[in-house]
This record gives sequence, C-alpha cells and structure tokens, in this order.
Amino acid sequence: MDIRFEKAATLKEKPDQNNLGFGKYFTDYMFEMDWDKGQGWHDARITPYGPIPIEPGCVILHYAQETFEGLKAYRRDDGKIQLFRPEMNAKRMQNSNDRLCMPKVEVEDFITAIKELVKVEKDWVPSLPNTSLYIRPFMFATEEALGVHQAISYKFLIITSPVGAYYAEGLNPVKIMIEDELVRAVKGGTGFTKCGGNYAGSIAGQVKAEAQGYDQVLWLDGETRTYVEEVGSMNIMFKIDGEIYTAPIEGTVLPGVTRDSMIHLLRDWGYKVNETHLKATDLMQAGHDGKLEEVFGTGTAAVISPVGQLKFKDDVVVVNNGEIGELTQKLYDTLTDIQWGRIPDKYGWTEVVC
Ligand code: COI
Repeated sequence: MDIRFEKAATLKEKPDQNNLGFGKYFTDYMFEMDWDKGQGWHDARITPYGPIPIEPGCVILHYAQETFEGLKAYRRDDGKIQLFRPEMNAKRMQNSNDRLCMPKVEVEDFITAIKELVKVEKDWVPSLPNTSLYIRPFMFATEEALGVHQAISYKFLIITSPVGAYYAEGLNPVKIMIEDELVRAVKGGTGFTKCGGNYAGSIAGQVKAEAQGYDQVLWLDGETRTYVEEVGSMNIMFKIDGEIYTAPIEGTVLPGVTRDSMIHLLRDWGYKVNETHLKATDLMQAGHDGKLEEVFGTGTAAVISPVGQLKFKDDVVVVNNGEIGELTQKLYDTLTDIQWGRIPDKYGWTEVVC
C-alpha cells in the first residue's frame, strides 16, 4: 500500500498530559482511503486532521452503515512506542464489516496504516503513567442514495487522540445497573460487531442507569432477559467462589481484545474461567451469600474497571466492600505492565512501531 503524505500548514499545541480525559483532543493528522465498487481501495493518504465533506444524502447519515475499532499506542520508559495485539482489531473489523456488508481492509494494510500514522504522530504519544494514544479506525458508506441497499462506496479513516483514564473514576470501582427492559443484542443481530448502531441503541440504557445514580448499564441477553452479557463500553467478568465467569462469544457479545488477554492471564495463573451463561438472579444471590468476590469490566479504553456495586430491579449488592479486588488489581498491573513494556511480553502481544 502506497501512502501519500500531505503536510499540515500549522501544528496544534499539545494538551496538558495531566488532564487528557478520554477522546477530547485530536492530533494533527489522520489516515484516509476510499473504496469504490470496481476499483477497490485506493488513494491511501495521511492528511491534516479536519472535516470530511459529506453529502446530506449520504448512506451513513440515514442507515448507519458504519464500523469502528479501538486500540492504543503506548510509550515505554525507553521512549519507544508499541501497539498491543493490533491484528485482533484488524480481524475483528473484518468480521464487523462482513456482517454490515462492507468491504474489508487487509490485516496487513490495517496495521501498516496505523503504524505509519503513529510514526507521523509520535510526539503526540503521551508519556505520563496511564496515558496513551488512542487509535480509532472507522469506516462508513459514502454513497449518496436513499434506497436501503449495500452501498457502492466507502471511506476508511484512522484518527488518534491522546488519552488518560476512560472513566473519571480511574481505578475506583464503578456502580452498575442491570437493565431488565431494554436489550442490546440478539443472536443473528449485530451484537458481536463494533458498529456505531450498537452504541446508539445502548445510550437509552446508559441514561436510565445514570438517572438512578449508576455509572453504567449491564445488558442481559436479548431473548430471555435472564443472563448477564456485556456493559455499555466493555465486557464484564465475575469472580464467584474462586472461579471466573464471563459471557461466551456466541454472536451477541463483543469479542474484546482485553477480554481475551485477561482470560489468557487468568488461565495461566491457574484460574478456572467459565465462558458461560450466568443468570442475573444467581449473580445477585452469590452476592448475598458472600460468594461474589470481585467484578470487573474489561475493554481497550477502560483497560479494567472494578465494579463496587450491582443493582438488579430492587436488589442491590455491594461487591468487595466497594473496593478494588486483589485479582482485579493484579490483572490491571500485569496487563498494563505488558502494554507499557515494563515487564517482558512472553505472549508476543506487543509490537514496536518506532
Ligand atoms: C474501546 O474500548 O476501545 C471501545 O471502543 C469502547 C468505546 C465505546 C469507548
């Protein structure tokens, strides 16, 4: 893939690394390429970050044919910059695109585009502890047409944003409400994909949870509203009586890169990880019986987010006295040590960019 480079006339001032938050600042450049039926991908370029012209009749604005990804570039203590399992994001985007009838980007091109953009933006990769450069690849239909159909033209872009913690709480436990009315995904739907529509549909649950004083919503399975599946912006795991439980990847749950990495670590450490259907009622009962030891969310943006309280209907359970659990902390420390290159990466998960 040949990538053309267009230099920006001026560069932005970089934000204070102590107050990055999540996704508030965007760097100087973006990657962009176009796809047209008959021609395929063409015109790969790195250009100044800026508005994209879109026709009001563009398919994406009406029918949401869009997918995205999320990964990070980490600055190590020796100044080098590395990625974490980027091929998993590349393959997941291919699976998302298959489901939404969108063209695929080759795994190699996906990773090359990210690396070239990160090289251009290397000064934007922050160095303070727990900061990184969040990378957001996304694709959408650009065709101007109002009939519902598989569009004939698309754009693939990558933008980057220096970030700190996703939740203002950082590693302080969040409170989660289990949603028993609205649903996020059903088998045969798009639950396993990273498409904007999944997130648009989840906002109502999030708003409901917030109105009741909770930080996030935990979705139940769409068919029976019985089994716990996934949180608004991350996968979720439960430590019950010494074993780990998390929802299986069967079409409704996002196959998270952090989820997969945690499962590897946990199994390596000798934990039994049950990728199985867990009833919300059994989860709450385990809490009342003193067997629910730890709960934590996993995701690229959030890394690991301890859960200190769960609410289901009128029932409330406080987890581990509302404090981060020992295993949650160990998982966080180990994963972030690998991601920031502080310990040897025996899994071969990291890839140095420059
Ligand atoms: C991520 O964890 O990278 C995500 O894409 C979640 C997003 C909704 C912030």
